[in-house]
Amino acid sequence: AALFGASRQNSRGINMNIQQEWLQLEQAIRPHLSRQWRAAPLIGGQRQAGSAHEVRCPYELSQVVGQVQWAEPAEAAQAMEALTRAFPRWSSTPVEERAAILERLADLMEANRAELMALCTLEAGKTLQDGIDEVREAVDFCRYYARQARERLQRSELKGPTGERNELFYEGRGVFACISPWNFPLAIFLGQIAAALVAGNTVLAKPAEQTSLIAMRATELLLEAGLPADVLALLPGSGAELGSVFCRDARLAGVCFTGSTETARLINRQLAEKDGSIAALIAETGGQNAMIVDSTALPEQVVKDALLSAFASAGQRCSALRVLYVQADIAERVIELLRGAMAELRVGPSDRRVSDLGPVIDAEARAGLLAHIGRLKGEGRLIAEARLPAGLNGHFVAPVAFEIDGIHELEKENFGPVLHVVRYEARDLEQVVAAINATGYGLTMGVHSRNEETARRIEQLARVGNLYVNRNQIGAVVGVQPFGGHGLSGTGPKAGGPNYLLRFVSERTTSVNT
Ligand code: NAD
Ligand code: ALA
Repeated sequence: AALFGASRQNSRGINMNIQQEWLQLEQAIRPHLSRQWRAAPLIGGQRQAGSAHEVRCPYELSQVVGQVQWAEPAEAAQAMEALTRAFPRWSSTPVEERAAILERLADLMEANRAELMALCTLEAGKTLQDGIDEVREAVDFCRYYARQARERLQRSELKGPTGERNELFYEGRGVFACISPWNFPLAIFLGQIAAALVAGNTVLAKPAEQTSLIAMRATELLLEAGLPADVLALLPGSGAELGSVFCRDARLAGVCFTGSTETARLINRQLAEKDGSIAALIAETGGQNAMIVDSTALPEQVVKDALLSAFASAGQRCSALRVLYVQADIAERVIELLRGAMAELRVGPSDRRVSDLGPVIDAEARAGLLAHIGRLKGEGRLIAEARLPAGLNGHFVAPVAFEIDGIHELEKENFGPVLHVVRYEARDLEQVVAAINATGYGLTMGVHSRNEETARRIEQLARVGNLYVNRNQIGAVVGVQPFGGHGLSGTGPKAGGPNYLLRFVSERTTSVNT
């Protein structure tokens, strides 16, 4: 089994230890690995005409995966018009009907798991293990939000004076734009849309440029599950171009965005300046995530968890570990073990079961990471670099670890397999947390300590959305570890948590004199 497979916390669809299950899944995926897909803008269920460009596989650049036709800015305005018209009917559709569509979608995704996994591998470069997790998370989001909608979006009666009936109820806000990143091209794409739709909004979906084929296939399944065609528009294409149309549209009621902090700021500015209603903004953004390890921690466990947190998914998770703070007393031992473990990492084509990690998403991402790596190497701070096998033809970056003096040295999130290690003295623990807080980000943090008081103290001081103690810090499970951060990392509410849907609705009360 691949190195990362055995230590995943979240439940998964197949058991990696049962060879037969793996073989069956691989067999089911194989025919899809040579298929061609096509994506195009979809408004009112109609594919729009236009010219398409080729999509190439990030781990084998000679392989064409399909064709994508990007939306024109005029189509964004057309979509806003159609979705505004569809809103009143969808908003008054019973919650039960809306929830049932999400549950049918979840079933359809499970039935089409092999195809979806193949697409995640071919278009986003995900390993097979990450592909399984991706489909499972998308399924979990749909079922969880369906359940939450039934439980939380009911009309309720409030106690008041005799002779008066007071009711609280919820309805959709209007047209919601759901803007998603490429690193969870199915789970986040569908998680946002599922929440917005089940809450009674119509949805303009803007997937990341890099993963339009996955978004198209997910949208087709949503329609197959029974979603009325006029309730969702899919606009693959340039975020900047299309966003400057729909984020400025007076009819837009809200935006659910996951992506970089810079893009969230830009969208926020556009929303603030637009005419019409004041739009809601949910933004889930980047991180500068640290793990703090004290001298009571078990070095072997630390290295296992740090390795998974930093390098799984080629470090392309917003939750991924970027800076490992290790108490000086055990730093040499941890670094020695880290070197050994990194020498075992297997980087390679994503469709091989043995690959621990695949490529990064595209040439631009690779160039940015290599520039950062080159700078730190130039300063002589290398701890270890994993081996890249010869003959690869994709956007591969060898996992690498450097020693630095503190998190303040990092100007921005390095979204890839780069780990920074800092030594600290026990007396400086509180300053370490203060330095992490001072970055302004607050997404995930890991703590490794067998001293409960230390872990509690860090919990009190750290301004992060998700804290993980004595384990890895990735792979939040829907409904179990609601996910999302503070400050530069996002606005909340947490995805996969009980308060998420409430941000997508308008609350109303009616008081009747009986
Ligand atoms: P990105 O900000 O470049 O793009 C995200 C989405 O925004 C894409 O669909 C893009 O087309 C769109 N976009 C770009 N400019 C826009 C504009 N002006 N108006 C409207 N939409 C616009 O981010 P990315 O590179 O796709 O994703 C990686 C980033 O996402 C990382 O920073 C990562 O930390 C973050 N992320 C955060 C979470 C979380 O839950 N906090 C989860 C996954 C990824
Ligand atoms: N929810 C994803 C994780 O926890 C981002 O890794």
